[in-house]
Amino acid sequence: MRILVVGSGGREHALIWKLSKSPQVKKIFVAPGNGGMKDLAEYLPLSADKTVELADFALSSRIDLTVVGPELPLVSGIVDYFQSRGLKIFGPSKAAARLEGSKAFAKSVMEKYGVPTARCQLFQSLEDASVYIERHPAPLVIKADGLASGKGVIVAQTKEEAIRAATSILKDRIFGDSGRQILIEECLTGQELSVLACVDGKNFVLLDSSQDHKRAYDGDVGPNTGGMGAYSPVPMVDDRMMKQIAKTIFEPVVRGMALEGSPFKGILYAGLMLTPQGPKVLEFNVRFGDPEAQAILPRLKSDFLELILASLEGWLDKYQVQWDERSCACVVLASKGYPGSYDIGRVISGLDKAADLPDTIVFHAGTESDKGRLLTKGGRVLNVVGMGHTLEAALEKAYHGVDLIDFEGKQYRRDIGSHALKSKMSVR
Ligand code: AMP
Ligand code: GLY
Repeated sequence: MRILVVGSGGREHALIWKLSKSPQVKKIFVAPGNGGMKDLAEYLPLSADKTVELADFALSSRIDLTVVGPELPLVSGIVDYFQSRGLKIFGPSKAAARLEGSKAFAKSVMEKYGVPTARCQLFQSLEDASVYIERHPAPLVIKADGLASGKGVIVAQTKEEAIRAATSILKDRIFGDSGRQILIEECLTGQELSVLACVDGKNFVLLDSSQDHKRAYDGDVGPNTGGMGAYSPVPMVDDRMMKQIAKTIFEPVVRGMALEGSPFKGILYAGLMLTPQGPKVLEFNVRFGDPEAQAILPRLKSDFLELILASLEGWLDKYQVQWDERSCACVVLASKGYPGSYDIGRVISGLDKAADLPDTIVFHAGTESDKGRLLTKGGRVLNVVGMGHTLEAALEKAYHGVDLIDFEGKQYRRDIGSHALKSKMSVR
């Protein structure tokens, strides 16, 4: 099969890497890709938002399947458009992608179909939002309704901070039209967990658990980022908890979307908080997480293309996913200043040495190749992934790779996986 992968991050590198292992895959194209994919895929100089041109290419180049990495094209309707031109594509329709594109929509589905989530209220008017904030105790969580590149959520510790957040979204429109309305949510506490499922509209299979590290700096402090590292599986999550998550979260939302006339097909990602009352949904995403994909896909033993085709053909109820029992840890190397402003064009060294380590993979994100050199080109630059029989061993491998790679301003967290290691120690 000839495959087109849309996107350019570490997640897309992991998708391509895994797809390339499938015996049925003959050729992969990537649009637009990054500096690390040339051995696996042919580059197409088209950004992920060029829906019409991407479909033109898919038709003229006899692409058998398109796989979409990021949320924006999905929320904008790339799946509907490709299908209208007779092209096979993996991902949710525009209507189903509203689970990520509108937090208000996602809440309404969760409320209607009984999916556990934080209590919340929706506001268009700053005046009404301010009255609500005055009447409710902090902390409160303020969320822009629409897409905001992962920056649209503010956990406000005081009423003043909550008012400032509501003002900046509703009045100053710091997220543009994504901030036409806001949700104000109760603040949940507990461990966070990402659980992803592959869904065929009716049936789903859960992928193994993972945990992201959203804050920029060690100890979970600093600004929220796209994710500074991840690992899979999460040791505190056992089969019983996964069954509970399947039953209380995925079953009702998958059934609900079908009943609403927008069956969900693709990867559905539930960002969860493990509260004392059980797992509750913080958010849904309608695609693989980045960097969760980089920690999950190396552990997938099943043929990834086969899993995608089972979803597209609607027989996931008969599909058994096989996992490598080892742990996988991913450490993100970012540019100095990320998630704020950062410089690009720094020379990267040591990659070959890191990639030669056993049980280690380096997935590129913001990189570009230039006259034989590799340069930084984004906030998140590289993902160093290690595999091992324990999480400790996987982390050791990943951090060994991290030490071998260098570029000016290299910034990373040294405590990926430390929550899991600590909770394991407290169990002992
Ligand atoms: P989201 O983009 O909705 O996943 O939110 C980003 C981050 O904000 C989450 O990973 C949580 O750390 C935090 N968050 C979101 N909603 C809540 C909530 N209701 N209570 C506490 N923290 C939250
Ligand atoms: N790692 C979080 C996300 O992909 O949204």
